[in-house]
Amino acid sequence: MKHHPKGLYILFFTELWERFSYYGMRAILVLYVIANAQGENPGLGWAEGDALALYGWYTMLVYLMAIPGGILADKWLGPKKMVFIGGLLIIAGQFILAFDSIIAFYTGLALIVMGVGGLKPNISTMVGGLYKEGDLMRDKGFTIFYIGINIGAATAPLLVGYIGETIGWHIGFSLAGFGMILGQAVYIWGQKYLKGVGNVIASTSKSGAKSHAPLTKIEKDRVFVLLISFLVVIMFWGAYEQAGGLLNIYTKEKLDRFVMGWEIPASVFQSLPAIYVILLGTIVAGFWAKWQAKGKEASSLFKMAVGIMIMGCGFLFMVGASLDAAASNSGKAALYWLFGAYFLHVVGELCASPVALSFITKLAPAKYASIMMGTYFAMTGLGNKLAGMIGEAASDAGEKTIFFGITFFTVGFGVVLLIFLKRLKALTHGAEDVVLEEAA
Ligand code: PHE
Repeated sequence: MKHHPKGLYILFFTELWERFSYYGMRAILVLYVIANAQGENPGLGWAEGDALALYGWYTMLVYLMAIPGGILADKWLGPKKMVFIGGLLIIAGQFILAFDSIIAFYTGLALIVMGVGGLKPNISTMVGGLYKEGDLMRDKGFTIFYIGINIGAATAPLLVGYIGETIGWHIGFSLAGFGMILGQAVYIWGQKYLKGVGNVIASTSKSGAKSHAPLTKIEKDRVFVLLISFLVVIMFWGAYEQAGGLLNIYTKEKLDRFVMGWEIPASVFQSLPAIYVILLGTIVAGFWAKWQAKGKEASSLFKMAVGIMIMGCGFLFMVGASLDAAASNSGKAALYWLFGAYFLHVVGELCASPVALSFITKLAPAKYASIMMGTYFAMTGLGNKLAGMIGEAASDAGEKTIFFGITFFTVGFGVVLLIFLKRLKALTHGAEDVVLEEAA
């Protein structure tokens, strides 16, 4: 049996700890910002709308920085060094957040934004670089990597969230910093397994040879389809990423979190989507494999359309929670609504998100490959900003309207995609048929 390169596990653990630090901090960010500025474990005392606006800016910039992060790697430093520098910036940022001052707060966030921008896109490029072109192990490698991401994302809110909310926000932030130190340590130790990967990429010069040639009609059509798929990406994350913002605050304020007499901190529930990813990942992938084997429609665009619709339906559970809260004496809804919502969110994510990356690599003209990847991350950034804006609107419109609105728009968007599916597929000029032949 063919084994994955050892470097995969080095990158797996580095990214696991990076995501631990990112999602751990994110789990308490809005909660810290809205917490009363006086009293025990004081926060910043901001209004909810302002907190969600900050959340939107922060989570957008983190991924928008993937563009300069990718360019710096392509042109000068190479992904390997960028991951290292990114890691250092994140460590510095998390520990600066450990200080209780507003200047430290903004400085810390800025450093993390730059750090993630340097690390996240480039570590993904390095995973790709471990495999030769056309190696069928590559997709499996990415799946393993995706699990690493979610192990970090699942454990962090439990630890950082619990400690941040119950003991002290700043201790929580520094715990996230220790996570990144571990990631950096694994990365440095594992350099011997990463010798041939992540150096300044030759692809710039490879594609540079024809870079003056104008795009062909086929390439232009494919870029058009990619731009449409970017719209899906923005819509998808705009809805899904309510998790760390509005849903996080909603969990804190409107859900009855008592289980056997113990009130579970809200941020702990931030680990739920990642746990679902780990549990359901292979099941959803297996479903699509069988579906495809039966000769049914299984193009990436189809999966993205289905994914966004399923995810959007998850918000119906939150509509249910709002009705439940309004009807109950305590003004609080039962927890199972949130479990249902996150369940559908993740089933949708697993349909749409893993296919998006490979879709980009298949459709992007060679000379725009890295910039398209950077743009993809940037689009998830715009999605995150949209999430913050939608969350903010809940202060005026009320949560129930917002939750229902999200279902309405995402399902509607999915239906439109399905209606135009044939035409869009024609514009890909068989880019995906190649995949099917390869897989067969
Ligand atoms: N859970 C994913 C991750 O942290 C979310 C994501 C998808 C982020 C795509 C960026 C781009 O990696």
